[in-house]
Amino acid sequence: MRYINNYKDKMQTYNKEHKLKYYIDTMGCQMNENDSLKYAGILESMGFEKGTEEESNLYLFNTCCVRENAENTLFGRLGMLKKRKINNEEVYIAIVGCMTQQEHILNKIKESYRFVDIVLGTSCMSIFPEKLYNAIVYNKKKLEFIDVSNSMEEEVPIKYEDKYKASVSIIYGCNNFCTYCIVPYVRGRERSRKPEDILADINRLAKDGYKEIMLLGQNVNSYGNDFKDELNGYNFPKLLQDIEKIEGIEIIRFMSPHPKDFKDDLIEVIKSSKKIARQIHLPLQSGNTNILKKMNRKYTKEQFLDVAMKLKKIPDVSISTDIIVGFPNETEEEFLDTLDVVSKVKFDQIYMFIYSPREGTVAAKMEDHVTYEEKVNRLERLKKLYEDILPSINKEMIGKTYKVLVEGKSKNNDLLYTGRSSQNKVVIFEANDSLIGKVVDIKIDSEHLWYLKGTIV
Ligand code: 5AD
Ligand code: SF4
Repeated sequence: MRYINNYKDKMQTYNKEHKLKYYIDTMGCQMNENDSLKYAGILESMGFEKGTEEESNLYLFNTCCVRENAENTLFGRLGMLKKRKINNEEVYIAIVGCMTQQEHILNKIKESYRFVDIVLGTSCMSIFPEKLYNAIVYNKKKLEFIDVSNSMEEEVPIKYEDKYKASVSIIYGCNNFCTYCIVPYVRGRERSRKPEDILADINRLAKDGYKEIMLLGQNVNSYGNDFKDELNGYNFPKLLQDIEKIEGIEIIRFMSPHPKDFKDDLIEVIKSSKKIARQIHLPLQSGNTNILKKMNRKYTKEQFLDVAMKLKKIPDVSISTDIIVGFPNETEEEFLDTLDVVSKVKFDQIYMFIYSPREGTVAAKMEDHVTYEEKVNRLERLKKLYEDILPSINKEMIGKTYKVLVEGKSKNNDLLYTGRSSQNKVVIFEANDSLIGKVVDIKIDSEHLWYLKGTIV
């Protein structure tokens, strides 16, 4: 990171006297959470200390624009911070992330929230230290629209909060342009990180005692499509096989793959792997071929079911998904196709969303006669079906033994510990502190909808 060093020392000197504290508010997906860990690493290298929401001097909003509610949250919180600024407290506000890539948001901040100090886009981590230093020391505000560049942040001092699980970005951006989705507009085109950089990161994490790695990307199975010359042909299955060889790493997860790119070679690599988690996230979005076409998802109901059923043949595999209800003009029959796929695949986890029009996307211009009440009703029916199916999936796990990474004490009971199985199920069991961070074998005794109880064997 070219720029960090230049401003690191200067800001550290300032912070020796001012002792500024930072607070990061992260909205949205795991990519954003990962970016926030990088921002925390940058800030701590500049002498900032982590503080609580009430006491901090620097508020960093790492924003999301995938659905509308995040906008309301941001503007509500800014309004509250304004009061502290008016009271002349030493408070700085920085807004970064996806939302700032949208011109109408930037205009709104310029017009109505001029007290904000810094606004930067999604690929601006390298200039953040400089802008921050100037805003704090010289009172130079920076409210500008920064174009999505092709930059990739390497060598950022990432500050993981968890000691045993870490996420690693492998590909940035998206080329798919699903018609409802704003991500390709705000995160730019696909850029794969070099395998040597990813493997170096994971080797370092393994040496530091990390056991579980989550590989991140908007579309992880497009990894490598942009490689040329000597890297041409290096793809996601090959990356997984190289990560498998890293000693110390015991569990490998990834998110999100696209069903259209879920080819047999990837399924084979998962099947033969001892480390890849028996949990696959396979975003359905809709179970109806006509809606899928309007969404530009590039697969049919049958093609999705085909991939899902191949995956279900892997012993003990669990499948999670994302579903959008109430896409413009979605009919009752079309919605029933979504319920049909849910009944057939029996997803272990479903992230459900009501369609939210995003300015600038193709779907936002489509006619929509489905009322909001109807969309809420569909969401509730989907939730009900999912919750009806879940106990039967969990019951199949009773009596079997699974590998679980012990994460720590359970929040509600001091004698019990919690962890996640390879299937990403929360498991509660009796243990002791010496097992934290270790992978243990647990036999499942009972199921409780959102978690399972078990015994170490
Ligand atoms: N409305 C509702 N849900 C959306 N998602 C993406 N865009 C929208 C939108 N405009 C959901 C998709 C995606 C997940 C991350 O968010 O299901 O997989
Ligand atoms: Fe959005 Fe589709 Fe890209 Fe996922 S694959 S980020 S839903 S455009």
